Amino acid sequence: MEKPQKKKNVLLRRPLISVAILLITVLVLVLGLVFGLRARHHNSSGLDSGSDFAEAWNQPSEFLLSKNFSITRTPTTRYYEWNISQQTIAPDGLERPMLLVNGMFPGPLVEANTGDRIVVKVTNNMVNGTAIHWHGMFQNGTNWMDGSVGITQCPIPPGQSFTYNFTVPNQWGTYWWHSHAASQYIDGIYGPLIIHSPDEPHLAEYQEDVIMMIADHYHTDSGSLVSWYLSPDSEGAEPVPDNGVINGRGTFDCSGDSQALFPTGNKCNNGAPMSVFDFKAGTTYRVRIINSGAFADFQFSIDNHNLTVIEADGVDMQPVQVQRLPIHVAQRYSVLVHANQAVDNYWVRALMNTNCFNTPNPALNPSIQAIIRYEGAASTQAPNSVDWSSSAWVAVCVDLTLDMLKPYTPVPVPAADVSYHIDISFQTISKDHVNMGYMNQTSWRPLMNDSTLFQSQRGISAFDAVSSSQFVIPLNNTNGVQLVLNNLDEGSHPFHFHGHVFHVLGWGHGNYQAGVTPLELVNPLRRDTITIPAYGWTVVRFANDNPGLWALHCHISWHSESGLMVQFESLPDKIKTMDIPAELKSMCAASSAMKR
Ligand code: C2O
Repeated sequence: MEKPQKKKNVLLRRPLISVAILLITVLVLVLGLVFGLRARHHNSSGLDSGSDFAEAWNQPSEFLLSKNFSITRTPTTRYYEWNISQQTIAPDGLERPMLLVNGMFPGPLVEANTGDRIVVKVTNNMVNGTAIHWHGMFQNGTNWMDGSVGITQCPIPPGQSFTYNFTVPNQWGTYWWHSHAASQYIDGIYGPLIIHSPDEPHLAEYQEDVIMMIADHYHTDSGSLVSWYLSPDSEGAEPVPDNGVINGRGTFDCSGDSQALFPTGNKCNNGAPMSVFDFKAGTTYRVRIINSGAFADFQFSIDNHNLTVIEADGVDMQPVQVQRLPIHVAQRYSVLVHANQAVDNYWVRALMNTNCFNTPNPALNPSIQAIIRYEGAASTQAPNSVDWSSSAWVAVCVDLTLDMLKPYTPVPVPAADVSYHIDISFQTISKDHVNMGYMNQTSWRPLMNDSTLFQSQRGISAFDAVSSSQFVIPLNNTNGVQLVLNNLDEGSHPFHFHGHVFHVLGWGHGNYQAGVTPLELVNPLRRDTITIPAYGWTVVRFANDNPGLWALHCHISWHSESGLMVQFESLPDKIKTMDIPAELKSMCAASSAMKR
């Protein structure tokens, strides 16, 4: 891939920015009037004609969970074989090389029942190393299957295979899997991971079960974007997406490419088809919304249809009705949608909160759409449904409030034996003018031919709080841990904790004042990914009952790559007795010979 060229970065230089935006806006308006309206007449509606819609890399039926899957208490083993390779596809009409599992985007569905064993043989046919993380899986007793490079493993070298093998007791709901090597998942290595249970409290409330994976989409490979972001050229401004996709599909006005932050000049077809979901009047759908993107948070809505939230990040919720659902990177929600409207086509909308970006991308249309088509509605017609009124707009760049998200089944909050205060910030390293992310004094960089888990097993306790790249907090004889996560940055950050759900005791803007700011201790929200507000705080608690090395990091890929990551070393004595497969450790030797 070619590196972003110098001239493009001119857009981001602050003194020129407003002039550039003005010129571009005028140009877009003029060009849009001349060409855009005409083009809209034939092809840019993004509707499928029904014939060549099902391309090999994406079959819409994969996202409708099969009724033949039996939800049972009898455990079984789910076996998958995956090959990861680079392939050129055009998710939104613009061709680009992507990294795909079995040639699919999104990658294959992993579906299991609580208690099952999941076995996935991953073969790496790429030029770089990789690892697959099972986002939200507790991995209690199998920390080494967590799939995070530099933390629980070394990358799977090119040309080699590794088999992940773990069980999923005590959890169910909506999860996902993705590469946890550098920023690879943005290039396509992600897919849904759904765990069922006959004990799910809302099981009888719906007849159909549908997945909608929503992601921002980039026309440039993520490696180039990260190098640009972590260079003085970016002045700390994140790469802004060119588009978005729902279940791997979007539509793009190809004329926008030349105005993009990083123009590609790649082959592009206008009017690539959007995802279409077939609904039947009178049916209730469980829609599982997963933000599998890199940076953007979305406001999700379906015209004319209310959303009843019943799950957040694998935790069942007391039903709460919304019209717009804010969902940040790596979060998941299940909503019930009653197909109770007139037989017709309706827009599904995922609106990017561009006011959370600090640079505009003129190529971006922030309203990412898909279509719900009732049985009997015309298949050649774009929906003419209208968006919910703006009064239904909920707060942007923050999560639903804690009094909206109430877990269905309360779990007692552990008492806090210890409490840590962690500041999240960006600091410019003066010598090279690069803006890096810091957790207290540490900016994370992955160990490349070792992992903190292996170090811990070897008894290295050297990674104390102020090492330059590893901020590891040891948790020995502690039951409950409280964290005060304090965001000194102007942007909000979706933080994910591996191997746990935390109890979210409170969040707010400004400063948290211990002993003064009230905390929720009775049935607070539990989830694995929380949005910490800009210039704000979040207080969480978790039980120290899962031995291993667990990452807590901002899931915005640009930010984890820039260092927003801390690790917990839970129960070091138990880590020492873990029987980690030799095969896993042997990948470290191979990875030392490999470039990142
Ligand atoms: Cu979705 Cu560190 O993971």
